[in-house]
Amino acid sequence: MTASPLPPPPALVERAAAWVAGARRILCVTGAGVSAESGLPTYRGVGGIYDGVDTDDGIAIEEALSGPVFRRAPETTWKYLLQIERACRGATPNAAHEILARWSRDARPPAEVWVLSQNVDGLHSVAGSRHLIEIHGDLHRLRCTTCDWRDRVDDYEALSPLPTCPNCGALIRPEVVLFEETLPSTATRRLHAQLALGFDLVFSIGTSSQFPYIVQPVVMAKHQGLPTVEINPRETAISALVDLRLPCSAGLALEAIDRVLGGAP
Ligand code: APR
Repeated sequence: MTASPLPPPPALVERAAAWVAGARRILCVTGAGVSAESGLPTYRGVGGIYDGVDTDDGIAIEEALSGPVFRRAPETTWKYLLQIERACRGATPNAAHEILARWSRDARPPAEVWVLSQNVDGLHSVAGSRHLIEIHGDLHRLRCTTCDWRDRVDDYEALSPLPTCPNCGALIRPEVVLFEETLPSTATRRLHAQLALGFDLVFSIGTSSQFPYIVQPVVMAKHQGLPTVEINPRETAISALVDLRLPCSAGLALEAIDRVLGGAP
């Protein structure tokens, strides 16, 4: 199943564009749906790979990709990490990544556009988003579980099924947050600092909003009486909370808003 190809209702697009035009600081919370149009599968909802199906190993994917299973049976976790990386390989940013990156670079119309992404595919960074918090990390950054070895790779082509450190021979892993692990402290600190500075418009784009730290910015904006927009073809945990819903794909919605704002310079 793919996202609806229908364009978003023009009156709603106009309203969202007016909010963007008037905002000084915008936060865009993004999830797997933003990368769907780059050909990447989502985890849940439209095109989701997690939807109730156990892995070949007879456990839920969330368990296979968890900290406890990585410690107990790293070969299982690595098997699915390799599959996820394989699904991302060769993917390039789509219109949604490009527009958010351009808004953040051009400072036109708003002064500052931040992206808080759960995606580990690195595509917001490839597109050039200037103010980016990758709260779940990036698959392309590897680190040793024992020594201080770190590397950045384009893909996992050269990795063995259970890759080890070239320095000390211990197990390596990507710098991503596995289920039941804590969030990276640097990213969390940056997020809290930016939330403390405040945003005057919050978008939630292509995420099923499973986690409190993903819902929190929307709730905060709501409590402060600030506008919130959700872009998602399906209803989610925050749909009833937002001021405006654009029920379509991230690319179509952001292209429509961007057109009203005058598009690329
Ligand atoms: N445009 C916008 N949204 C879309 C599109 C699209 N083209 N296609 C699908 N969606 C929506 C789905 O309807 C769904 O609500 O994107 C959402 C994707 O939700 P999830 O798959 O749950 O992804 P996400 O919210 O990023 O998951 C959060 O959970 O599995 C963990 O760590 C993983 O970072 C991930 C986190």
